[in-house]
Amino acid sequence: MDAELRAAAAAVSEQIQSIPNLAIVLGSGFQTVLQSVAVETRISFADLPGFETPSVPGHESAAILVAELGGQRVMFVSGRMHYYEGFSMETVTLPVRTLAQVGVRKLLLTNAAGAIRSGMAVGDLMVVEDHINFTGQNPLRGRLGAGGAGFVDLCGLYSPRFNGLLQSCARQHGFTCHRGVYVGVSGPCFETPAEIRMFERWGGDAVGMSTVAEAIAARQAGLEVGALSCLTNLAAGKAEGEEIKHGDVLSALETVGTRLGAVLTDFSRHEAVDSVNVS
Ligand code: HPA
Repeated sequence: MDAELRAAAAAVSEQIQSIPNLAIVLGSGFQTVLQSVAVETRISFADLPGFETPSVPGHESAAILVAELGGQRVMFVSGRMHYYEGFSMETVTLPVRTLAQVGVRKLLLTNAAGAIRSGMAVGDLMVVEDHINFTGQNPLRGRLGAGGAGFVDLCGLYSPRFNGLLQSCARQHGFTCHRGVYVGVSGPCFETPAEIRMFERWGGDAVGMSTVAEAIAARQAGLEVGALSCLTNLAAGKAEGEEIKHGDVLSALETVGTRLGAVLTDFSRHEAVDSVNVS
């Protein structure tokens, strides 16, 4: 195991004695869930070896936290280090690898994404059933590990159990919740309309600049993985004559922020019960 991961895991274990089973990575807009919980522990990225401070609006004060959500203790990663900020895939996936190293078993990734498939609207949600990695990068490069552990099978990467729970929680809170394929791009620019048409023909339903690398790293580490996208805009070329602006992405998230928190709370509550039933 590399020294950076060991050091980060040691720093987390030192401050959090009992590690929750479930972790949630809070993407843009999903951090609102933290406004209604009592935080037990908060470790700033600045205090974790190898972690960097994200520079994107909506990702400031990045930290790993523990709080009770829906009756179970949950670990949160609030804020992300993105590849488009210039961070390496090693750094981008360090939080997820650290969570796995300290003993987290289940991971929910959340993100903002652009809607490709027709019939999707701004403010809808999508549970990720599969992804297309169009980032041009693979987070397992150079991390083959003993016995070829890097040749990871990605079939069934996104847990059908998580997807079912997420979709029913989302609908209970008034969201239209689709299921679909998330296309991961490197960013930071938005796509061209021609790229979006290509993704659509490939079977892509939504597009975003995170999640795929983390999901792959989590699979290598043996975690159960789920991902939930909030559709903040129609993808390039889908809204005739309209530009995509980061500010619009943030304001779409602000509109649904409170309800996103409620979906995550319900998910956590049901997931705790569900995992007792299946084990
Ligand atoms: N493209 C890529 N990433 C995104 C988008 C988009 O349209 N919206 C939110 N994140």
